[in-house]
Amino acid sequence: MNVVILAAGMGKRMQSALPKVLHALAGKPLLSHVIDTARQLSPTTLCVIYGHGGDTVPALVTAHHQSPDCAISFAQQEPQLGTGHAVMQAIPALSDTVPTLILYGDVPLTNAASLQRLIDSAGTDKLAILTIEMADPSGYGRIVREQGKITRIVEQKDATDAERTISEINTGIMVMPTVPLKKWLAALSNNNAQGEYYLTDIVAQAVADGVEVTSAQPAAAWETLGVNSKVQLAELERIYQRNLANIMLEQGIMLADPNRFDVRGTLTCGHDVSIDVGCIFEGEVALADGVKIDAHCVIKNARIGSNVHIKPFCHIEDTVIGATSIIGPYARLRPGTELAEAVHIGNFVEIKNSQIAANSKANHLTYIGDATIGERVNIGAGTITCNYDGVNKFRTVIEDDVFIGSDTQLIAPVTVGKGATLGAGTTLSTNAPAGKLTVSRARQLTVESWQRPVKIKK
Ligand code: UD1
Ligand code: CA
Repeated sequence: MNVVILAAGMGKRMQSALPKVLHALAGKPLLSHVIDTARQLSPTTLCVIYGHGGDTVPALVTAHHQSPDCAISFAQQEPQLGTGHAVMQAIPALSDTVPTLILYGDVPLTNAASLQRLIDSAGTDKLAILTIEMADPSGYGRIVREQGKITRIVEQKDATDAERTISEINTGIMVMPTVPLKKWLAALSNNNAQGEYYLTDIVAQAVADGVEVTSAQPAAAWETLGVNSKVQLAELERIYQRNLANIMLEQGIMLADPNRFDVRGTLTCGHDVSIDVGCIFEGEVALADGVKIDAHCVIKNARIGSNVHIKPFCHIEDTVIGATSIIGPYARLRPGTELAEAVHIGNFVEIKNSQIAANSKANHLTYIGDATIGERVNIGAGTITCNYDGVNKFRTVIEDDVFIGSDTQLIAPVTVGKGATLGAGTTLSTNAPAGKLTVSRARQLTVESWQRPVKIKK
């Protein structure tokens, strides 16, 4: 099958310099949703018609949708003279031996199953239109039927009052045999209320040529909703998220509020996972059995082990967390953080590019960067690895069973040997030997003769 995605329109109502089809829904451009759905149908040809926004559209698609199975071709439509004119630009890319499916780049939520039903109803020789009934059909092309059979589509602006009462509308998605399509496109005129080449006019031509015209309906009407404004984009975002939330609830994942839950990527969950309100999951996130995520966490590209508890307001990115660990509240785990089992990371602790082995703890106000930390290590409040000299980064190594007193600075590169203790307030600039107490601070002294000053009487 050939698939043509119309994405040249300018989307004036978006009020944005960004081309409409590049606006994100669930963290992914609208056009990417359509491409991903089209690819589920294993097309032989996939052609994107672009125009408004120029090369930004093909540049993004090329960057995000490389696939050896199905190359994407692009055809520029300049100027934009209507949907029929848009499809004309794809003609050189279309193989005659397979039907052609027309999709819109600004209709992101169509299910592949609904499209497959449309394709099946067209077979190899029919024209099939995806239609829906609308309580308020204004603005859409109306499906005109005689004795139940579709005879043509009439656009809102060209319709008579009687035709405007028709509630069955053209979603714009249709499939037809390719050889006659090329002939019908060549015969289109722009003699209509908008002075455009309407793709919809091919329907009357098909009927005149004796090609049967059928219709199919999507499983849900929202599958065919397009984005013309940010209001509609926000509505479709909520539909997408709510559908996903329902699927997750049905799988047994506890969402405190399915309306306050956002996935911008892929979230996979084990059994008995619970997620409180206001969390955002980005990229690829995997939560193992029994994970509990408290309110308002942002988690991106992370693997979180079984029975981990993430307390409120954590920010976690490119991180692996071992089973039964406890994180937060207010922890920041930056890229390259790898925590083994039963690690405790508390409030206002930042970790970057570091490995922490099992049963170690950093519970308060700490920065750990470029460090390798052993098992059962206790890192006191206010500890900082000084990993950066302003030019280069260096590693800190803390071996098993180390106890680091509060307010310690470790000036990397530096190693704290197994079982060592660092006294509070230490600034460690050379290695601390294993099993010993190392302290770097002035010895405490009490001045016996000192007296508090008293107010001088005048
Ligand atoms: C079109 C249909 C209408 C249908 C409606 C569904 C025609 C003539 N009308 O109306 O029957 O009910 O969609 O939303 O087909 N585009 C281009 N180049 C162009 C014009 C449009 O690529 O020159 C693209 C747009 O980017 C968009 C799609 O085609 O993705 C539909 O364009 P739009 O202007 O929204 O179509 P309507 O005229 O509203
Ligand atoms: Ca539209």
